[in-house]
Amino acid sequence: MNADMTFNPQHLRRIGVMTCGGDAPGMNTCIRAVVRTASNYELEVYGIRRAFAGLVAGDMIRLGPRDVGGILQRGGTVLQTARLPEFSQERLQKLALRRLHEHEIQALVVIGGNGSLRGAYALHQRGFPVIGIPATIDNDVWGTNMAIGVDTAINTILDAIDRLRDTASSHQRTLIVETMGRKCGYLALMAGITGGAEVIHIPEVPLSLEEMARRVEEAYIRGKTHALLVVSEGAEHRTTDIARYLEEQETGFEVRITILGHVQRGGKPSHFDRLLATRMGVAAVEALREGKCGYMTALQGRKIVLIPLEEVVQNERQANLEYYRIAQMLAK
Ligand code: F6P
Repeated sequence: MNADMTFNPQHLRRIGVMTCGGDAPGMNTCIRAVVRTASNYELEVYGIRRAFAGLVAGDMIRLGPRDVGGILQRGGTVLQTARLPEFSQERLQKLALRRLHEHEIQALVVIGGNGSLRGAYALHQRGFPVIGIPATIDNDVWGTNMAIGVDTAINTILDAIDRLRDTASSHQRTLIVETMGRKCGYLALMAGITGGAEVIHIPEVPLSLEEMARRVEEAYIRGKTHALLVVSEGAEHRTTDIARYLEEQETGFEVRITILGHVQRGGKPSHFDRLLATRMGVAAVEALREGKCGYMTALQGRKIVLIPLEEVVQNERQANLEYYRIAQMLAK
């Protein structure tokens, strides 16, 4: 079913906002932008706690401009978040609509990654006005150059890589750094290229264990004091298997592993993420005010544009392999 992409904004008085899926730095900045933009247009905002789980439970609070003071620089999300895969069920979607109706909320802004945007699209298909905002450190949302949180996460990874290189180099070691990212290698690729990795292993590019060992050994023979491998969590070979294999091959370097884990999701949003979150929050509310719905805000070039949620949920974004070629060329 394809729902209308417009609604009559004349009766728009109150909107809901929620953050869903894995938290991402910049979510708070975005909540603030939504609340204050809405207030500027004399719209009320209800913050929905714990994402779709909170929505179906009717867990909401009124948010005024002062309630979002002092949060723009904070990581995580003050509205909290949750994952609710069951939201694909008709029963829960209908319950969500009932809750929105009970709270007299006429439109919704959903801030989150692919799962959240699918949930938003489901509500749109049921005729409820929704705008999605991409926020996930994975950068796996189709249609936007960057999602909120990605820039901060890469900077966190790079900071870790720089520190790890100091110690790896001092001990003549191979260091394997595992990044998050699910099935998208964006984080590993970008951190690998700007962190000077010898090997980048991502889901989009098959790479044998033999080839990894060959590159590490070559680095040793060329006189490098360390070798750095950046491995995306969703890649073909697991970090521990790669480490075991490299140990067995006796490449010259000892091997150590660092799994960065959730440290990548925390921390203050960078300047880039604050600005992106602010622009997208403003754009979402202004779109609803103009009676537009069923869209996601997206960064294309330097502009914030609206793209249909239908396109977003039907496509998958992968890492740009041109960067992979460049990274390989420079790892000499
Ligand atoms: O989608 C964001 C993300 O951080 C992924 O990179 C990672 O695989 C997943 O969330 C981890 O989820 P959780 O915090 O539920 O363990």
